[in-house]
Amino acid sequence: MPDPTSGPRIEIAPSVLPVDFSKLGEEVAALEAAGVDRIQWDVMDGQFVPNLTFGPSVIASARRHTSLPFEAHLMVYTPDVMAAEYVAAGCSRLIVHAEACTHLHRTLANIASLGATASVALNPATPASAIAHVLDLVDMVLVMTVNPGFGGQAYIGTMEPKIREVRDMIERAGLGDRVDLEVDGGIGPATIAGAAAAGANILVAGSALFRDPEGLSHAVSDLRATATAAFRR
Ligand code: DX5
Repeated sequence: MPDPTSGPRIEIAPSVLPVDFSKLGEEVAALEAAGVDRIQWDVMDGQFVPNLTFGPSVIASARRHTSLPFEAHLMVYTPDVMAAEYVAAGCSRLIVHAEACTHLHRTLANIASLGATASVALNPATPASAIAHVLDLVDMVLVMTVNPGFGGQAYIGTMEPKIREVRDMIERAGLGDRVDLEVDGGIGPATIAGAAAAGANILVAGSALFRDPEGLSHAVSDLRATATAAFRR
């Protein structure tokens, strides 16, 4: 959550897509040791996005291996159906897609009633205005910087005006100390500064963390330092 004294805290959240799922416990423990701030679980249903990943039981199996907060990025058409199971699996934050929810306001309120914090994601083609009337219900807005479904895609730089627009919406609503702005997709050493300068304070990285020849810890600290230096509130 943002720090009311010095503005939003810069956080690095790994996507789990690149990990070796045959040793998931070790992988999440290594991410914690490398200094990440939370873990993002990319839940995909093979319908809302082409890819199919995992459900709550896989997330639950990793819960005892780390003390980090878990967030479930629900790239699924029916997030309400299993929301309670993702909370029971150990996710303190659920992220739903505005495009997948017929009744987004109700879905976000339902997540809060489960005791989790609610967040909303926007695909690249979806305007920021789609979340104008639910900002009071969320603790984070996720602006996708790739079309969701796969790791290792190229960052869509034309999303930076939208990141800026969402940051301005959050600040104009007086929610800058309560609502985070997350970006996800193609985040790495060459792209993270642009996203942070536009106003993102939580940055999801997958392949970039595992590509760094100096290892996970270096990748995490390097990305955090670059984002902190560039961040614009
Ligand atoms: C895309 C996923 C992203 C992705 C990030 O659908 O939601 O989280 O895994 O991976 P990279 O950082 O490799 O783009």
